[in-house]
Amino acid sequence: MGELLEAVFENAYEAIVVTDPDGKILLMNRSYREFLGVDNVVGRHVTEVIENTRMHIVAQQGKPEIAEIHRIKGQNMIATRIPIMKDGKVIAALGTVMFQDVQELSGLAAVVDHLRDELSYYKRELQRRLGAIYHFDEIVERSPRMKELKAFCQKVAKSDSTVLITGESGTGKELFAHAIHAGSRRKMGPFIRVNCAAIPDTLLESELFGYEEGAFTGAARKGKKGKFELANHGTILLDEIGDMPLPLQAKLLRVLQEKEVERVGGVRPIPIDVRVIACTNQDLPSRIREGAFRVDLYYRLNVVSLNIPPLRERLEDLPELVSTLLKQIVETTGVHVREIDDAVWDVLRSHSWPGNVRELRNVLERAVHLMDGDVLKKEHIWLPGSGKPLPVSPVRPLKETLIAAEREAIMRAMEAASGNKLEAARLLGISKSSFYQKWEKYNRDKLV
Ligand SMILES: Nc1ncnc2c1ncn2[C@@H]1O[C@H](COP(=O)(O)OP(=O)(O)OP(=O)(O)O)[C@@H](O)[C@H]1O
Ligand SMILES: [Mg+2]
Repeated sequence: MGELLEAVFENAYEAIVVTDPDGKILLMNRSYREFLGVDNVVGRHVTEVIENTRMHIVAQQGKPEIAEIHRIKGQNMIATRIPIMKDGKVIAALGTVMFQDVQELSGLAAVVDHLRDELSYYKRELQRRLGAIYHFDEIVERSPRMKELKAFCQKVAKSDSTVLITGESGTGKELFAHAIHAGSRRKMGPFIRVNCAAIPDTLLESELFGYEEGAFTGAARKGKKGKFELANHGTILLDEIGDMPLPLQAKLLRVLQEKEVERVGGVRPIPIDVRVIACTNQDLPSRIREGAFRVDLYYRLNVVSLNIPPLRERLEDLPELVSTLLKQIVETTGVHVREIDDAVWDVLRSHSWPGNVRELRNVLERAVHLMDGDVLKKEHIWLPGSGKPLPVSPVRPLKETLIAAEREAIMRAMEAASGNKLEAARLLGISKSSFYQKWEKYNRDKLV
């Protein structure tokens, strides 16, 4: 053991010195001797061998000095000096020099800084891949109500509470849900979104909770994980929760209470750790009165409730929203907007915005397509109910024209239905889930 200790001591990379209580050198390892260019030093006083040393002081006072800068041979080194005590008395002092030079340390700090930058970039990138693509800094707010709401959400994000987000269509519910996940301790976990209205009622259960092999007659389907399982250790966003069929509401309630899911055709429950965020633009209390929503589920979801005010009640947000949305539109269309005519603001401020921020985005996108210079003018703004005919766009390939027509029909139906999606589906004569699928498709293309 003695031999081994000696070898370790002698070969250590750090420079090590040991003195007696008077400051006389007892041991000095090779690293230190080579650095100083000395040989036989045992028995000499440290001050004769090491410049600026404090070993003798530490040995005398018995107070350790940790990681102090020690200048030797014109180099700043990091020295640590520790008194070695026995029966309350100093019997020796141990000195080490960890870095041969502070330069080495600052070099290391630069590397750490660089790695930290890279890490935060990858973290963000990973989050995007995991599903959350919006962060709080992407939510535009100027009005006091929105500022307050955002500040509250930032606090809520850090807790693990279930959140219910309500607000009219296009107010930014999904945006907030993303940001809450991205600002939570689950941010590195998955973010899974389910649109409860876009999936036909018969498929929703297996979509949410998964199914076991052989759960369905006919085709020998392999088992599949449900969205809750996929969201494990992350967040699940139950969008359009107001449209969830009643029987499934009962099952969802059980999942929220028990924190475990049972796959369709499964025999054992699977424990899950998932934070739930639910969104709806329906008035849940009135859905409860109609008998279409369970009151117990409502209380389970309504732990923290956020109501996003409609755009017409916070017109102070308009200028900032317009500039942010135009920037996004310019990125995809390449059309440059240098100036906005004053008259445009009067038009935008007097509209009621039933489709809220999404409608504003659509209006701006249409306007940008109609511009011929780089100034956005009043005549480029087409609003429903303004009595003006919808401007005719130039001839485009049939496929594009059909897609554009379908999208336009959906947007107009939403405008006519004042943002009520069930009503819009009815006006178009299509089913609820088919409407939602189309709605998702047209909005999704622009979201990302
Ligand atoms: N405060 C905001 N700042 C920036 N963009 C916003 C803001 N609010 C909404 N948007 C944008 O408006 C669009 C609609 O937002 P989102 O999809 O979150 O609305 P929603 O409330 O979920 O609507 P719906 O009820 O129809 O699903 C998105 O493109 C979103 O980025
Ligand atoms: Mg939404």
